[in-house]
Amino acid sequence: MPNTVKISPSILSADFARLGEEVRAIDAAGCDYVHVDVMDGHFVPNITIGPDVVKALRPHTEKPLDVHLMITPVDPYLEAFANAGSDIITVHAEAGVHLDRSLQVIRSLGKKAGVSLNPSTPASVIEYVIDKVDLILVMTVNPGFGGQAFIDSQVDKIRQIHGMIGDRAIELEVDGGINVDNAGAVAGAGGDVLVAGSAVFSGGDYKAAIGALRAAVG
Ligand code: DX5
Ligand code: ZN
Repeated sequence: MPNTVKISPSILSADFARLGEEVRAIDAAGCDYVHVDVMDGHFVPNITIGPDVVKALRPHTEKPLDVHLMITPVDPYLEAFANAGSDIITVHAEAGVHLDRSLQVIRSLGKKAGVSLNPSTPASVIEYVIDKVDLILVMTVNPGFGGQAFIDSQVDKIRQIHGMIGDRAIELEVDGGINVDNAGAVAGAGGDVLVAGSAVFSGGDYKAAIGALRAAVG
């Protein structure tokens, strides 16, 4: 049976002046999720968007909004991102000292809870929260910018976390530098959801780009 993955295009690489249109375009092109990168200029060295933009984008797609929070502190903003219409809210393990609490809050808001790991963070950080997450996001670049090179050492971590997940209903998402050359290795190691920014948005034909990623895996 061929491997199948979900594709979550990162709108960080979209045209910010036409974001609603861009979201409709990736929806029509067959994406599974819409990945929204939220950066604060503090946890990561870049600033992007906040809950009001998520709210403005919500009417443009019925696909899940996969919101990746690269902010600290994160807890004061969880409710705003939930109310804005996020479906999956992912926080970084490194962003606060009370990861367990943050995950509980996200679920209490009725949203899927995700935890993300920077490249230098070991898989063991999820050991005691694994039953409180719906998604684990392995970063394959240092978060902050689109268009960076994939860090190969993370394939082992993906494989390790895939083993830790076992038969739990947890999605394993991979984010950063994903392209047709490494998508097969990522999926082979256990990645279920591939985030792709530049690989989807740089060419102009979003349907072809999403199809190429799926074909690289299958
Ligand atoms: C990086 C972001 C990623 C990024 C992916 O901090 O979390 O989602 O936009 O972009 P590419 O696919 O270009 O690495
Ligand atoms: Zn991201």
